[in-house]
Amino acid sequence: MERITRNKEETISLGKEFAKNIKKGDIVIFNGDLGAGKTHFAKGFTEGIGSKNLVTSPTFTIMNIYEGGRFPVYHFDMYRLSSMEEAEELGFEEYFDKNSLDGVSIVEWPSQVEGLIKKPYYVVSIEKLDDNTRKITIGREE
Ligand SMILES: Nc1ncnc2c1ncn2[C@@H]1O[C@H](COP(=O)(O)OP(=O)(O)OP(=O)(O)O)[C@@H](O)[C@H]1O
Ligand SMILES: [Mg+2]
Repeated sequence: MERITRNKEETISLGKEFAKNIKKGDIVIFNGDLGAGKTHFAKGFTEGIGSKNLVTSPTFTIMNIYEGGRFPVYHFDMYRLSSMEEAEELGFEEYFDKNSLDGVSIVEWPSQVEGLIKKPYYVVSIEKLDDNTRKITIGREE
């Protein structure tokens, strides 16, 4: 699926709409540059799962948990992860395997943990067309 959004609110709405089809154990990874809109999509997504807590950028904590929805949302931002070893030490592996996941994991900067995230997963790619316009492509890798 491909969609153009023309402001951040439309990206939030799209995240919310996408969350409706999500089931426990699903994993969503994001592609997109700094400031593309990954966190805004994540905000709408988490709202769509039913959590009342507002999503903020987890840059300094790597992972935030949002409860209160249909199931927990584990929101990762791997941007400042220093190594793959750190991810392993923090015990992230269980969040990236459908079989051990009790909620849904959404991951910004997944390239930092290449190989740790097990397929199948959804891929949300956000491309900046100009200041306010984004092309958002949602696919799935089996
Ligand atoms: N159509 C749009 N969708 C989403 N954000 C938009 C859009 N147009 C402009 N913006 C702006 O782009 C920025 C997106 O920020 P956001 O934190 O969501 O990006 P990000 O991809 O998570 O960045 P980072 O890699 O730093 O985590 C915000 O400042 C937002 O206001
Ligand atoms: Mg972000």
